[in-house]
This record gives sequence, C-alpha cells and structure tokens, in this order.
Amino acid sequence: MEYEFTKEDLKEIEKIKAKYPEVMPATLPVLWVAQNRFGHVEPEVQRLVAKTLGLPEAHVHGVATFYTQYYKEKKGKYVLDVCTCLSCQLCGGYDILEHLEKTLGIKKGETTQDGKFTLNEVECLGACGYAPMLQITNDKYINNLTVEKTDKLIDMLKKDEEPEYEEIEMPLRKVK
Ligand code: FES
Repeated sequence: MEYEFTKEDLKEIEKIKAKYPEVMPATLPVLWVAQNRFGHVEPEVQRLVAKTLGLPEAHVHGVATFYTQYYKEKKGKYVLDVCTCLSCQLCGGYDILEHLEKTLGIKKGETTQDGKFTLNEVECLGACGYAPMLQITNDKYINNLTVEKTDKLIDMLKKDEEPEYEEIEMPLRKVK
C-alpha cells in the first residue's frame, strides 16, 4: 500500500518543523502525525516520514522502534493496554487481562478478526493508585477496573461510544 500525507498533514508537519532549529527533533511529533493518519507506523510509513523530513530512514526507524507507543504493525481500532505491574497485579490486573482474553476471544498481543480490538499486557503506566487499570490506544486511562466495569467498557467500545472516564489528578499530567 502506498502511503501519503494529506495537505492538512503536510501543513501540520511544516508547523512542527518550524518549532525546532533542526529537522531531526521533529521526528517524534511527525511520527505521531503519521500514526494518527494511518493507525500505525509500519516500515512503509517510516519511509514516508523519512522522505518527508529529508532524514535517513535508519534514524526514523530507530526512533519508531525505540518507543512502544508507536505501533510498528497494524493494530485494532482500540488498543487495550492492560497493566499487570505490581500494584495492578496485586489488585487483580491478571484477572482483568484473562477476562478480556476470554471476552474478546484472543490472547494478549493479538487483534480480533474484525480489527476492532488489540489486547496487550503492559508495564506500569504510572496510575498505580488507581489499580487495576488499562489504557486505550495511548490515550485515556480506565481506572479501578472490575469485571463489570470492563464488560461495560467493551460494550461501549463495540458501539463506538465514548466510555466514561474518571477525572484524576496525576503529578505530571491530567488524565481522564
Ligand atoms: S502498577 Fe499499574 S499503573 Fe502502576
């Protein structure tokens, strides 16, 4: 598949480039533009980013593969990152993960056949006081999970409805 940025993307990329004295630091935000546009940054998309920024492909590849938040392959529409690190584990993180595996009919690391959900097990997401929790597609946090709350979340996402989030204060940023 041939990937191309839209005119709007290219305008945004120019704005990003203008923020830095050199083009190299623009790699991270431009990879985000690409991921938002295509849903992933698989190698063809990395090549497009490199070409657009006039940077070596190896540099863009190095950045994209360093951060797990960049998806190097196609994912489901909703990527569910379930934390099973210490606090979440003690509060039932594995129960939530296993429940999701059963509910979605996939194992961790897999995507449902309809392309709607990808399920991942991840390390601490910095919301240990709200364990167990999961994050949806690098964005919203769903905290204090129970099986019932997880079922409700999946029902809403299946209908592409916006799930309910609790506003919580985090030391470095505000998450919902
Ligand atoms: S242990 Fe799950 S957010 Fe920290």
